[in-house]
Amino acid sequence: MSYSVIIPAAGKGERLHLGYNKVLHRKHGTTVIERTVAVFLNDRECQQILLVIPPDEEEIFRSLFDAKQVQLVYGGATRSLSVWNAVPLVTQEKVLVHDGARCLLSKALLKRVTQKLEEGFVNVIPTVCSKDAILVDGKYPPHSVRPKLVQTPQGFRTADLIKAMEQAYVDQTLSSFKDDSSIVAHYLGFTPEEVEGDYENIKITTKDDLRWLG
Ligand code: CTP
Ligand code: MG
Repeated sequence: MSYSVIIPAAGKGERLHLGYNKVLHRKHGTTVIERTVAVFLNDRECQQILLVIPPDEEEIFRSLFDAKQVQLVYGGATRSLSVWNAVPLVTQEKVLVHDGARCLLSKALLKRVTQKLEEGFVNVIPTVCSKDAILVDGKYPPHSVRPKLVQTPQGFRTADLIKAMEQAYVDQTLSSFKDDSSIVAHYLGFTPEEVEGDYENIKITTKDDLRWLG
């Protein structure tokens, strides 16, 4: 199944305190964002890579990727606004959105998401169960409530993602959503279809996550 991928990488990485965009952090000669993009460069089904970057870092991102393989798009002030800037450029009927900071994405997880899209599901998310107990507003939720952690890549019909984001843009709610699936669920009513996530598919967020880079 052919698809496009939008990779938001236009953040500041403030929680990592490196003083620069965390996806440009280099370990063993390779940056986080090169590792992330490589997963899609190596997937024959991926027809288009839209990499969303901060405008003032264009030169460094340009030096990392071949312009024929990776299209650069300027990001916005929040993650949702960054994705929003890339959505009109998508050429394929199916689209994935994957955090630039999740550089440990496995082929197997990627396949689980694209497989569901191929089966006709329109809002696909990888989830894992929390291994710790979870407290909500100081209270333990009832036993029947099993909180899950939501990851990327998330998969959509492109037309749906555009429609849902357009409505959120008009409502000025885009930036209040934590991910793309929740926008599609909220505005179009499509319940997310869960696939098994991967505990190793972490988002490099704080200093202690850097040890995952090997
Ligand atoms: N992102 C983006 N545009 C923004 C903010 C975030 O494209 N305005 C991207 C980040 O580059 C990252 C992904 O969205 O790849 C997930 O966001 P997060 O982990 O929060 O990254 P940062 O916002 O960079 O980190 P922090 O919140 O610690 O500043
Ligand atoms: Mg952030």
